[in-house]
Amino acid sequence: MGDRHEKGPINRKRRTTISGAGGVTLKHANGKKSDAPCDAIEANLNNGKIKDPNSPDSPSRKEKGKHESINDRISCHSVQESLLSSASGYSNYRGILNWCVVMLVLSNARLFLENLIKYGILVDPIQVVSLFLKDPYSWPAPCLVIVSNVFIMAALYTERRLSVLLRPGFRLLQGTFSEGFGMFLHILNLSTILCFPVATVLMVCSMTPVGAVFALGVYTIIFLKLYSYRDVNKWCREMRHAKARTLSRSHSCPSVPRANGTAVQAQVSYPGNLTHRDLYYFMFAPTLCYELNFPRSPRIRKRFLLRRLFEMLFFMQLLVGLIQQWMVPTIQNSMKPFQDMDFSRMVERLLKLAVPNHLIWLIFFYWFFHSSMNFVAELMQFGDREFYKDWWNSETVTYFWANWNIPVHKWCLRHFYKPMLKRGVSKWAAQTAVFLLSAFFHEYLVSIPLKMFRLWAFMGMMAQIPLAWFVGRFLRGNYGNAAVWISLIIGQPIAVLMYVHDYYVLHFQESSPQGPAHK
Ligand SMILES: CC(C)(COP(=O)(O)OP(=O)(O)OC[C@H]1O[C@@H](n2cnc3c(N)ncnc32)[C@H](O)[C@@H]1OP(=O)(O)O)[C@@H](O)C(=O)NCCC(=O)NCCS
Repeated sequence: MGDRHEKGPINRKRRTTISGAGGVTLKHANGKKSDAPCDAIEANLNNGKIKDPNSPDSPSRKEKGKHESINDRISCHSVQESLLSSASGYSNYRGILNWCVVMLVLSNARLFLENLIKYGILVDPIQVVSLFLKDPYSWPAPCLVIVSNVFIMAALYTERRLSVLLRPGFRLLQGTFSEGFGMFLHILNLSTILCFPVATVLMVCSMTPVGAVFALGVYTIIFLKLYSYRDVNKWCREMRHAKARTLSRSHSCPSVPRANGTAVQAQVSYPGNLTHRDLYYFMFAPTLCYELNFPRSPRIRKRFLLRRLFEMLFFMQLLVGLIQQWMVPTIQNSMKPFQDMDFSRMVERLLKLAVPNHLIWLIFFYWFFHSSMNFVAELMQFGDREFYKDWWNSETVTYFWANWNIPVHKWCLRHFYKPMLKRGVSKWAAQTAVFLLSAFFHEYLVSIPLKMFRLWAFMGMMAQIPLAWFVGRFLRGNYGNAAVWISLIIGQPIAVLMYVHDYYVLHFQESSPQGPAHK
């Protein structure tokens, strides 16, 4: 264009991706400069047609080329910032990211080789079965899961007895149970759901720690789901009461909802939802929050389903392999420094464990929250697939906890945090209460299977509160994000080592007084 001659070099030399740059810079895919076309396109715009400026019949082509080469020879500098200075506005670090990935792969390949040379192949799928079953004729964990149906049924029949019908004439037909008695039964049922598996795990000798984690995990999920089920049905009854009062006052007929002149798709309404089918759909759906009418996807996409299934199987094998080959030997080798209280070796072992632990946690995240949950959701045509958000960009600890596990966070908000805020509890106290509850369940899922009460998981969860305050107060942006990553990478192996050390001391030290060889 015309002004290219006045400040030509500034525009001409801009070859890199610069965010927020006002001018238009044309660039070929191979990165070569192409600044002539702007002028040529304008010059060739004729009767709405664009002529190719590079075509041999373009009259100005030769002249322009000559002019440019002279211009290039005369001036070769322009006012510009170095790419790595923040004032340059440069933001394309894709190459650096690739470099990080290459470095990561190379350094881990070395570790992988070192591990193989040192230990040989430790992966043993048969051993995985023994983690779930001590005695092939005794299957306590699956039996415990089957028994959980009794509690699910108890919740359903309690709700049926509590249900309220709206009769013609806007009279409410009360259920056979009063609200107070229903509440008592639900509390009894929910407490039994938490206590019954604990008693079983502690009393049945053939229960393995892994089997116990599985059974307690299922019971915890049932507890959270039935709590939500009770809450939502109670809200429905409250709405019925409010509606009956309004309708009986106005004596008007309830209008049939219509959308664009056509009847709305049939929706379940209270108490029509109190059926076995509805409750079991909720029990298997990948959510902890009950709803009368869940959003549904229109069909099952078979290719999507198969992809998720493949991922599930692949990542499960990978997880088991990495734990057996990488994590277990590293943990075993960490016992001696911990027993000797050799601080520098302890830190070295902790950092060594941090790498496989973090990798396994990331794979677990993808396997559980993306592959498995999407698989179940697709199979059940469950529409809401928001199982996680962009927690990896967390700049604060609270952002991480509100975004990495959406089903739990949603439950906490809907059934615990917001009800507390509504009752006038301060925000800080409500957040502390949520973390206390979460800490309780973390400890519940670790201490009881290990039959060892140490409170490391509880303290780890509670430590999130001061950590959240510190990061929120003193660190911003990338520093905050780095702090969240460091807390994840270092925090988890500390808890793992604490539990394994205590478990080892409790169960194995008497049988082998020397402990495992320190490598
Ligand atoms: C404690 C916790 C619930 C706080 O979540 P948060 O999103 O940071 O909380 P906020 O204070 O920002 O508010 C959340 C919601 O409450 C609402 N809210 C805030 N103050 C309110 C008030 N006084 N009255 C009513 N609602 C209020 C907000 O509007 C917001 O609603 P929205 O979600 O519809 O937008 C969250 O950190 C959490 O879930 N922690 C535990 C997670 C956990 O243990 N996970 C285990 C994974 S293994």
